[in-house]
Amino acid sequence: MNAASLRSMASHPSLSSRDHVRHAPTLSVHTARGERVHSRDGRELWLREIVPGDMAALQRCFTRLSPEDIRRRFLHAMSELPMSMAQRLCHTDAAVETALVLVDESVRPAEIRGVGRIYVDEAADSAEFSVIVERDWSRIGLGALLMQRLVDDCRRRGLAEIWGYVLLENRPMLELCRELGFIRRLMPDEPGTAQITLRL
Ligand SMILES: CC(C)(COP(=O)(O)OP(=O)(O)OC[C@H]1O[C@@H](n2cnc3c(N)ncnc32)[C@H](O)[C@@H]1OP(=O)(O)O)[C@@H](O)C(=O)NCCC(=O)NCCS
Repeated sequence: MNAASLRSMASHPSLSSRDHVRHAPTLSVHTARGERVHSRDGRELWLREIVPGDMAALQRCFTRLSPEDIRRRFLHAMSELPMSMAQRLCHTDAAVETALVLVDESVRPAEIRGVGRIYVDEAADSAEFSVIVERDWSRIGLGALLMQRLVDDCRRRGLAEIWGYVLLENRPMLELCRELGFIRRLMPDEPGTAQITLRL
């Protein structure tokens, strides 16, 4: 695990330390099923916030990811998504986190095809993002949809910026973020990694 990855994980607030919150977030995705969205090629998905009941689907989703996608998302290799981590990822504190899932209900059980999340750092007035889309569902606009919703959510929270670590070899993500207006800053201590930021 590299230093950027460690910093990235360290910046995620623990479940117990989030009781003084400046911006109460409200997301437009309220109903249990969420909001119906369509991919560019017409596939139907439901966009909603993650819930504790998504744990099994999240773990199944992880098994469909390639090692490369996992490394690009977590900035280090992982062979499985441990139960404790899946649990943590499905139990969000809305005060400082938003985690959106794209759910495919055309199969049984329903499957998660993409996840986007932010962790707010109140002291820095910013949020760190991460996003992943399953390979068979890529290049049909879902990554851009998730990122746009995360940006919208950060604006709704009144934050000054949204940022993330991206490997320099991760052309898809760098291109996606460039189109959304993010700027890239190289990290001298982390050859191969960039910090990309959007002022809100
Ligand atoms: C990066 C990622 C989220 C993109 O998701 P996606 O659903 O395929 O992206 P979209 O279909 O919305 O594409 C949006 C834009 O991104 C760029 N893009 C996406 N995939 C690309 C690729 N393989 N090559 C070049 N550009 C690409 C394009 O500009 C694209 O717009 P276009 O399709 O109109 O040309 C996805 O590839 C992924 O999950 N990667 C692994 C995890 C990761 O890298 N996360 C980022 C770090 S947290």
